[in-house]
Amino acid sequence: MPLRIASIVGARPNFIKVAPIYKALKGYAEHEIIHTGQHYDFGLSKIFFKEFDLPDPDFNLEVGSGLPGYQIGEMTKKLEHVLLNHSDPDQTKKGTLGSKNRNKHARVEKSKPKYDLVLVYGDTNSTLAGALSAFKTGIKVGHIESGLRSFDRRMPEEINRILTDQLSEYHFASTKTAMANLKKEHVYGKNKFTGDLSVEVVGEASKISIRKSKVLRRLGLDPKSFILFTMHREENTTSAKILASIIESFELISKKSDSGKGQSINRFIVYPIHPGTKKKFKESGLYERLEKCPNLILMDPVGYIDFIQLIHNASKVMTDSGGVQKEAYILGVPCITIRENTEWIETVEEGWNRLVSVNPSKIAEYALKWKPTIHSKSRINSDNSYSTSEYNSGKLKQIFGTGNTSSLIREFIISLYK
Ligand code: UD1
Ligand code: UDP
Repeated sequence: MPLRIASIVGARPNFIKVAPIYKALKGYAEHEIIHTGQHYDFGLSKIFFKEFDLPDPDFNLEVGSGLPGYQIGEMTKKLEHVLLNHSDPDQTKKGTLGSKNRNKHARVEKSKPKYDLVLVYGDTNSTLAGALSAFKTGIKVGHIESGLRSFDRRMPEEINRILTDQLSEYHFASTKTAMANLKKEHVYGKNKFTGDLSVEVVGEASKISIRKSKVLRRLGLDPKSFILFTMHREENTTSAKILASIIESFELISKKSDSGKGQSINRFIVYPIHPGTKKKFKESGLYERLEKCPNLILMDPVGYIDFIQLIHNASKVMTDSGGVQKEAYILGVPCITIRENTEWIETVEEGWNRLVSVNPSKIAEYALKWKPTIHSKSRINSDNSYSTSEYNSGKLKQIFGTGNTSSLIREFIISLYK
């Protein structure tokens, strides 16, 4: 019988990570994708399935937004039905466990798991719910991006990572530090250093981006004329004071770059705003002030192909995203991380990433003046194509491996079930 694998995903970064794994497992295993429905807007979900040529998910649990208890609770409840191959599609879809369904639920408990292995990705609520449901239904779990730690237990993602690692049997570590963390914590199971999937994902997307993305033209931007900004993390979006400080940083950057002579390389700030953060700005009564920031290009989230073109052509990236810190490193673009810590510590140690807390004058200073300790020439080739050759050639230390992560994960899995 072929190996049966389910990937449980639900949020933007999960979709980007499942893409190379889906390709790598094709022909080697029966592989189904279960979408929890944590992200549901086209620009946060479906666009990635289209761009990465992924099939529609085999299941969409349509859980949606809510407090963590609701979200994780609904996910685990519904996932259990899918993982146990419950025969009632209505119950799987709606996940109702009211009195009407109690007998059906009793039947479910006797079912056998449908999969040999569940794969979960990163650190979202969908990751944790996926690992918990698989563990409780007797399915072994493989955690991709295992062992990462920011050592900041206030972060929902940190708790998700720790718990997911505890529930997983197989740990695929993206970095040497992640590998060392797993050993230090004596986490149960097998650990494997695989490097990070983003090396191959960025490599592939860059090739497509050069041919297809029109985002710079659409926005009327010259290469290296803007800072790319993203921010959505809970620690930065739950306080109106922090949101106001971010606006103040933008105002300062704009004032200072306009007072410089000639065309400033940081003339614009491009901000594809996460819908959750937009809501927070609106609820704090700050959205109008944000929109009025001079030189700020505020836009809806873009797909991956456009986003890679934006990173490539940015003079700097400012972010609190985990994925964006890695992508900036791989593409050799200086990164300012608006956080007090990072799980991608090697990017800081290598001099390409700088942690800055939410202090408007500090953010403006770093945005305008800071340069990485290691300089890199432009990533634009003479024929105007993009390349990740500086990372791939080892000019930048290959902290995320050499771009063979998906095949290393596949080979590891296959060796387990031989
Ligand atoms: C989640 C992850 C975070 C990840 C991010 C990627 C957790 C705990 N957090 O954060 O690690 O970096 O995804 O983008 O899992 N919303 C929409 N449309 C959507 C989805 C969400 O408008 O399609 C809005 C809703 O108002 C929702 C808010 O965004 O309440 C937050 O969404 P949620 O999925 O809870 O967390 P993210 O902030 O997206
Ligand atoms: N991303 C994107 N479009 C956007 C913003 C981000 O495609 O408008 C990509 C980005 O390349 C990153 C991925 O989404 O790798 C996930 O990033 P996000 O910041 O949402 O989550 P995190 O990595 O912090 O968990």
